[in-house]
Amino acid sequence: MTEAGWMAQRDDAVPEDVERLLATVPEWFGRPESNAEYIDDARTMETWTVRDDSGRVVGVTLVSHHFPQTSEIHFTVVDRSVHGGGVGTAMVEAITEDVRARGVKLLEVKTLGPSKEDPNYARTRHFYEKMGFLPLEETDLWGADTPCLILVKPVANTAPGE
Ligand SMILES: CC(C)(COP(=O)(O)OP(=O)(O)OC[C@H]1O[C@@H](n2cnc3c(N)ncnc32)[C@H](O)[C@@H]1OP(=O)(O)O)[C@@H](O)C(=O)NCCC(=O)NCCS
Repeated sequence: MTEAGWMAQRDDAVPEDVERLLATVPEWFGRPESNAEYIDDARTMETWTVRDDSGRVVGVTLVSHHFPQTSEIHFTVVDRSVHGGGVGTAMVEAITEDVRARGVKLLEVKTLGPSKEDPNYARTRHFYEKMGFLPLEETDLWGADTPCLILVKPVANTAPGE
């Protein structure tokens, strides 16, 4: 449970909730074809949610585990009505603890890079950096018009060679 009182947990697949939450944040997720992919991903990928007192999902994060040492936050969205209220923090903190317990060393996330002027994604990058992610590299993985910033968060202290 975070200071704000939100608790994140592993959950069942919640594709309908992802669809509902995506519709609250069109400035970030305005491409129907990408949204359809995220909704589809939500049927199969490891899912973490925050639910409100009535059990309604207000935040969803999908996680993939690439290698024993590295996991990735594949997708995250919080209902606009509770932005800034600690829901995203609760999910990142819970996932960080979970991957640390699995022996993971680095948690990765990708988002729109700073070379594309976008005040909304500037806030998203601020959120990840506040959560301990470090900008690693901006790449053209998503095409020249959509700079992809890779961020990583060390989740374990490692000795040399470990
Ligand atoms: C980014 C996001 C997941 C953060 O979750 P959240 O619950 O709003 O964030 P929290 O309340 O836990 O953390 C607050 C911090 O995040 C920052 N933040 C980032 N985006 C924000 C937003 N849209 N609204 C409010 N705060 C936001 C705040 O500035 C704050 O830091 P500060 O106290 O230094 O100002 C959420 O706002 C969201 O879903 N945004 C739209 C979709 C998105 O960006 N998804 C990720 C795409 S890669």
